Amino acid sequence: MTKIFISCALPYANGPCHLGHLRSTYIPADIYARYNRMAGNEVLMVCATDEHGTPIAVRADQEGKEPIEIAKRYHDMIARDIESCDISLDNFARTSDELHYKISQDFFLYLYNKGLIYEEAIQQLYCENCGKFLPDRYVEGICPVCGSEARGDHCESCGRALEPTELLEPHCLTCGHTPVIRDSTQYFFKLSHFQDQLEEYISTNEYLPPNVRNYAENWLKEGLEDWIMTRDMKWGIPVPLEGAEGKVIYVWGEAFIGYISSAAAWSRRTGIPWEDYWNDGHIVHFIGKDIIYHHSLFWPAMLLGHDCKLPDDIFAGEFLSLEGRKMSTSKNWVVWVEDFVKDFDSDLLRYYLTINAPLNKDTDFSWDDFGRRINDELADVIGNFLHRTFTFTKKFFDGKVPEYKDPSEEDLEFEKAIKELPDTVGELISTMKFREGLVEIVKTAKKGNKYFNDQEPWKAVKEDMQKASNCLYLSNQLCKALAILLKPYIPNKADAICDIINIPKDNAWDDSKEFLEVGHEINKAKPLFKKIEDKVIQAQKEKLYANLEESETGKDNKSDKKDNKDKKGKTDKNNKSKKDNEGEKMDLISIDEFAKVEIKIGKIVECEKIEKSNKLLKTQIDIGDKTIQVIAGLGKRYAPEDLLGKKVPVVTNLKPAKLMGELSEGMIMATESAAILTPDDCEIGELLM
Ligand code: 2FM
Ligand code: ZN
Repeated sequence: MTKIFISCALPYANGPCHLGHLRSTYIPADIYARYNRMAGNEVLMVCATDEHGTPIAVRADQEGKEPIEIAKRYHDMIARDIESCDISLDNFARTSDELHYKISQDFFLYLYNKGLIYEEAIQQLYCENCGKFLPDRYVEGICPVCGSEARGDHCESCGRALEPTELLEPHCLTCGHTPVIRDSTQYFFKLSHFQDQLEEYISTNEYLPPNVRNYAENWLKEGLEDWIMTRDMKWGIPVPLEGAEGKVIYVWGEAFIGYISSAAAWSRRTGIPWEDYWNDGHIVHFIGKDIIYHHSLFWPAMLLGHDCKLPDDIFAGEFLSLEGRKMSTSKNWVVWVEDFVKDFDSDLLRYYLTINAPLNKDTDFSWDDFGRRINDELADVIGNFLHRTFTFTKKFFDGKVPEYKDPSEEDLEFEKAIKELPDTVGELISTMKFREGLVEIVKTAKKGNKYFNDQEPWKAVKEDMQKASNCLYLSNQLCKALAILLKPYIPNKADAICDIINIPKDNAWDDSKEFLEVGHEINKAKPLFKKIEDKVIQAQKEKLYANLEESETGKDNKSDKKDNKDKKGKTDKNNKSKKDNEGEKMDLISIDEFAKVEIKIGKIVECEKIEKSNKLLKTQIDIGDKTIQVIAGLGKRYAPEDLLGKKVPVVTNLKPAKLMGELSEGMIMATESAAILTPDDCEIGELLM
């Protein structure tokens, strides 16, 4: 028996959970935790909301509330989202908890007393009107790189991380005054001191996955510089030193400690020491890839400074896009967990986000693909196999597992597949290959369906009863194995299968290897996986596009859901270039990917307004070999008659989609401000390269 300490990255308490959070962090962590508990290991899985930092403080100012009220609102929402997806955390705390303050301040002091935190005067922006320094998002101005409006620490247009002092025309977010530059003393953590130890840690840690190791090695090659650990602001954990009044610990200087304080809170509740899990156990941090830097370098350095054991594994899920586009909470291009679970069982989400792609690859959530996989795999393969086995057993064997005698070659082969499945899946989950484990399960259920078809028990009951009996004996055994092996992935459905098979729900992993006895009675079958109708998927897509349109036209700019993921601890002295590099790496596409896009010159031959929309136009476009209908968001800039007869570049191989109930079969290429490009010299139907 091994002890395992599992943490999930702490979500910022300034917005609810969306599918990206679940995919990169919570679902994989939960699969791993559930499997390990079933395999007999002792698991402690913790998380908390990350409640400090300027975005929360700024929002509180804007809403005329205290930051703690904002944090509480989102803590509650996030807790509900996580629960609705059955993430089996042992403790979900808050970084505003007293215990977290205490542990974080002690941690800071420990590093300070060891000489690992030092003071240095630096220049910062100060608003004389408000009488306060303006860290991070408290200031806005013009990006010195691209000239767009930018927040203090980050330009959304060009993706640069910025120092507030670099902004052109800076102004205080609270009162609009132009700030001045003032000296301010801050505390720095000697990250550079740990260069060699971190190199050693990254290169010798056998568990670190390649994406984490590669990122960390690249940053180490550039050489580490010290990190700023404090901010001049009210909201946060006060720096526990004399003379440091008005300063708080930088949010990235204490967020990690949430792993420990959440575990400590669990210890207080249960009386079990969390330290045993950390010191004697296997520590795994589940995170999203945007915070690899923090977890692979900064956090281990803090732990080294504190003479603590380092994490054994840092597992970083890559990004999830939505319908082929980058998710954006500010543009409302996002699916919120709360909305999803209103319409679908959360197990469907757990299934889809796991089977969709391995975690070390970026992937896309598409409603069509979601519907297809649920219908073709969960319903047609797993659901069908379970249902036919149960109904057949009821009908022909009085609901009892029939006898198994004189097995045929096929029986033996199928029996072997059933017996091998638990170890295969267990090995895959324990080595973090969650998707592969699930794929094995689906493959075996497929085999089950083939076996069932080949044995034709519906005929055999009349002609060769033993053949039918063997088929149903083995099929029930696979159903039982599925009930147990699916538990880490889709816990509700797994329990429902247990109910039908009439076995307890709290199984150990190896119980899946025990066959049901002959004569064991099962319960009446219930449909477990209903197919999702096309119109349901269509409605979700329409909702998504309508949200986007609303947010673009400003009708419902859900600013309270503004994302915070794009900015992480960039005010350390050297982090800027690293983050930029990371951004470039992430956004590049290959020429092959680009070549997939077919762009043709088309001529707009019909154009009309869409009644309910203030910006969508319905156009018919002649693209040479045919005329296609395209719904275009150009109506704010052009009247329909302005566009008639115009030649425009059109993307002609987009998957058709419905916008406001109208089919759109392509996309007119236009600028961000919805200006069309008019290639008058080109021929209709001409391809763009
Ligand atoms: O990037 C984020 O969402 C941070 N709130 C993650 C913090 S994880 C850790 F440091 F606790
Ligand atoms: Zn001001």
